[in-house]
Amino acid sequence: MGGKAGAVIEARCPKGWSEYTLIDCGGKEKLERMGNQILIRPEPQALWTPRLAVEEWTKYAHWRFVQQGAHGGRWIPLKGKDSKTEWQLNYQSDALHLRFRLALTSFKHVGIFPEQADNWEFVARSIRALKKPAKVLNLFAYTGGASLAARQAGADVVHLDSVRQVVDWAHENMKLSRLDGIRWILEDARKFVARERKRGHRYSGVLLDPPAYGLGPAGERWKLEDQIHTLMDDVRALLEPDAHFLLVNAYSLGLSSLVLRNFLSDAYPNDSLHTGELYLPTPESGIFLPLGVFARAWTGMAP
Ligand SMILES: C[S@@+](CC[C@H](N)C(=O)[O-])C[C@H]1O[C@@H](n2cnc3c(N)ncnc32)[C@H](O)[C@@H]1O
Repeated sequence: MGGKAGAVIEARCPKGWSEYTLIDCGGKEKLERMGNQILIRPEPQALWTPRLAVEEWTKYAHWRFVQQGAHGGRWIPLKGKDSKTEWQLNYQSDALHLRFRLALTSFKHVGIFPEQADNWEFVARSIRALKKPAKVLNLFAYTGGASLAARQAGADVVHLDSVRQVVDWAHENMKLSRLDGIRWILEDARKFVARERKRGHRYSGVLLDPPAYGLGPAGERWKLEDQIHTLMDDVRALLEPDAHFLLVNAYSLGLSSLVLRNFLSDAYPNDSLHTGELYLPTPESGIFLPLGVFARAWTGMAP
């Protein structure tokens, strides 16, 4: 019989941020410093009481995002001319130095998911551990954090997203990070992996971070729970049979990391299949904000 669940679920947070801090969270919102801007944004899972007083939050913040309707909202400036609509952020660790353009969007996002930095480090470590030229496919790749990490670690990178504006944004981030040579693909991830499988193309690393509802460039709509089986099957077929790694991330469905694990545990033994939650800590109050789940699998190497 398999191991105990306690041994297979990890909680991980990134260690390399100096320009990002989760200052506080609670009351379904979070207060974050991102470079020279401090933001208040909705955070549905922050159901507890914030540690700082409301007046403290508004004293610090440059912007507050106010939800309007189910999906959109608007940003309210709280600091006059010091409230910038666009700025830049550096991520610097022993392995990576990346630079991003941040901007306010009408979906409360600003172009980066800081908790993902722990996944970027895994990608960079895995590419180095392969000890051979790496070819990495990043699906649902957004503004490219993981693509930049893979490229900086020396891989050939294929970056795929279905939204032209975010692919252009990722291209800008590549330039800001002084990188080049990433291949950009604007397509429905499902269709692309099915075609790549038919063509017999292989990758030494595949990363995927699918949303709960997929939307292709031609308006194709799908629900992850209806597609995840085929998607995982196609993705697994794209991995080189010898040394390779796979990273699956999920946020919006509220999935358990064990769901991701169960898609992979037939092929990867426990010591090369790590699953768990990503979180961001508040440095002072000891709150851990949960921000999605991951499964990382590898074979023929040790990241
Ligand atoms: C949760 S974000 C991924 C975040 C990214 N992993 C990061 O850390 O920066 C999901 C992305 O999937 C893209 N997307 C949605 N439906 C898609 C589809 N059918 N095919 C490809 N990309 C899709 C969205 O445009 C969005 O950029």
